[in-house]
Amino acid sequence: MDEREEEFEPSVLGTKEHWDTAYERDLQNFKENGTAGEIWFGEESMTRLIRWLKKQKMPLDSSVLDIGTGNGVLLVELAKSGYTNLTGVDYSVSAVQLSKNIMEKEGLPHVKLQVEDILNPSDGLSGFQICIDKGTFDAICLNPDNVAEKRKQYVKSLHRVLRPGGFLLITSCNWTKGELLKEFRERFLLLEELPTPTFCFGGKSGSSVTALVFQQKE
Ligand SMILES: C[S@@+](CC[C@H](N)C(=O)[O-])C[C@H]1O[C@@H](n2cnc3c(N)ncnc32)[C@H](O)[C@@H]1O
Repeated sequence: MDEREEEFEPSVLGTKEHWDTAYERDLQNFKENGTAGEIWFGEESMTRLIRWLKKQKMPLDSSVLDIGTGNGVLLVELAKSGYTNLTGVDYSVSAVQLSKNIMEKEGLPHVKLQVEDILNPSDGLSGFQICIDKGTFDAICLNPDNVAEKRKQYVKSLHRVLRPGGFLLITSCNWTKGELLKEFRERFLLLEELPTPTFCFGGKSGSSVTALVFQQKE
């Protein structure tokens, strides 16, 4: 067993039942009050990703996949920034229902949303230029069953859904830059670390969130 498995306690946050219940509740709230629910890592986490895409002058029709899209609010922000070829997947049916309702409200019918387990993606889910993961790898790593295998499977799946040379933008609160690098380096090159808010404690400063850009090896 490696170091991380000993450190991470499995959590309900790693189970599909948890997310199904959470999004059923959020879907109900949306129907009653029009609220979208939680934005993981806050608004700034979306601005940071969009800023990077703009800085790289990524064409607005680049195919973008949001993995574990949840309520799909990141896709709404990407669409508002001009991106036109957007897909979101989530293994929770309720999350996909919620995100579809939100797209309808926002007048964004061209955003594609589908139920997919990223650890076992369908054949059609492939060829993306950009994949974004905001908190999904974190959730997968908290699964109580066979987590080492799931981490490996995640990297394999990403390799399959991205086209060669495609980009993975990953935001995590459980993993440091070095740990993510170790996990992904066999199939991905680290391009950039995106600045995240830092905190200071006991004379040392650090970040509670890591945001990295990887490029898939050709
Ligand atoms: C921490 S939430 C983040 C949601 C969204 N990305 C955001 O930033 O607001 C994790 C998301 O990953 C989804 N998820 C977890 N495991 C998954 C899997 N194997 N395949 C697809 N989605 C998954 C959950 O349903 C949940 O929507």
